[in-house]
Amino acid sequence: MVVHAITANLTYEFAADVRAGLTKTGQKELLSKYLYDDVGSALFEVISHLPEYGLTRADERLLRRYAGDIVERLAGPVAVAELGSGSGKKTRQILEALCRRQRTSYYPIEISPTALAMCQRELSDIDCISILGFEREYLDGLLEVAAQRHTGQHLLVLFLGSTIGNFDPMAGLKFLNQVRRILQPGDSLLLGTDLVKSSAQLLAAYDDRLGVTAAFNLNLLARINRELDGNFDLAHFEHVAKINHQSRSVEMHLRSMRRQTVNIPAAGVAVEFLEGETIWTESSHKYSLEEVCQMSRTAGFRCDVQWVDDQWPFAESLLVAE
Ligand code: AVI
Repeated sequence: MVVHAITANLTYEFAADVRAGLTKTGQKELLSKYLYDDVGSALFEVISHLPEYGLTRADERLLRRYAGDIVERLAGPVAVAELGSGSGKKTRQILEALCRRQRTSYYPIEISPTALAMCQRELSDIDCISILGFEREYLDGLLEVAAQRHTGQHLLVLFLGSTIGNFDPMAGLKFLNQVRRILQPGDSLLLGTDLVKSSAQLLAAYDDRLGVTAAFNLNLLARINRELDGNFDLAHFEHVAKINHQSRSVEMHLRSMRRQTVNIPAAGVAVEFLEGETIWTESSHKYSLEEVCQMSRTAGFRCDVQWVDDQWPFAESLLVAE
C-alpha cells in the first residue's frame, strides 16, 4: 500500500483542544476523536467483541449478508473510498464482491497511521485491489480521492460503524452535505447507523460489566498525562454512561469523585474540579430509519435501500448522490 501522509503538529492541536474543552464555562468537555490513540483504538476493538455491545457485529453481519446486493446496485466501474478504515475487516466483504466484476482501487482515509497499517495487513491478500491510503482528516482525504478518479468511474464512499452517531445531528447533516459536495451525481455513500433501542440495552452497551468501556473512556485522561504531562489521578475519576432522552443519545462522561485540581503543563492550564462535576467525552446518537433517509435527502442524496440487522437494531443505508 502507498500512503500519503502529512506531518501536522498534532500535539499542538490536542493541547489547544484540551485547554479549550476543560476551561469552558458550564459543562467541561473533551472531543471524542481523542479517545482513539493506540491504546484507545485497541480498547475499542475489545469493546466490539463484548456481548453487551452488538453494534460492530451487526455492521459486519449486514455487510457479510448483503455485500453482493450492495455491489449489484452500483453502476459502471467503481472505486471505493472509506472514511475511517478501522481494521478493514468489514470492508473485505464489499471489496471481494466488487472483485467478482472488476479490478478495484481502494482508498482508506484515516488520521491514524496505525489503523492504516492494520487495514493494509488485513486486506493485502485480496489480489484484485490496489490500496492507496490517505493519512488525512475525512473530507481532506475524500477531496484527494475525488481528484484521482478516472472519467466514467463512480465512487462508493463507505462510512460504516455508526461513526456518524458520534456527531451531533446538525453536525452530522453538515458533514453529509460536505461529502455530497465532493461527490458527483450517481456516486454512492454506504452509511452505517445504529438505530434507536431501549435505554437498558444502551446502558449495558456503554457501561459493560467487564469495565472495558470505562477503561476506554478513562484512557483519555491517561493520554493527556502521557502526551501533555498532565497529572490526572485516574483513581479519582469514574466512567459514567447516561441516556439523553431529548437528543436520543447515550453520553459518556468522566466524573470527578472529589474536589481536585489537575495540572496540564503542556496545555498551559490548571483545572479545578468540584466533587461530582463531569467531563463530557462522547455522545452516540441513535437514529430511526426514516431519520437517516430524511437527513440524507436534505444533504442531496436519494435513499436507495436500507438493510436492517435482525439481531441488533442497526442499518446500512445505500445513498445515491443526485
Ligand atoms: C465508534 N463509535 C461508533 C462508538 C459508539 O458506539 O459510539 C464508540 C464507542 N463509545 C463507547 N463505546 C463505543
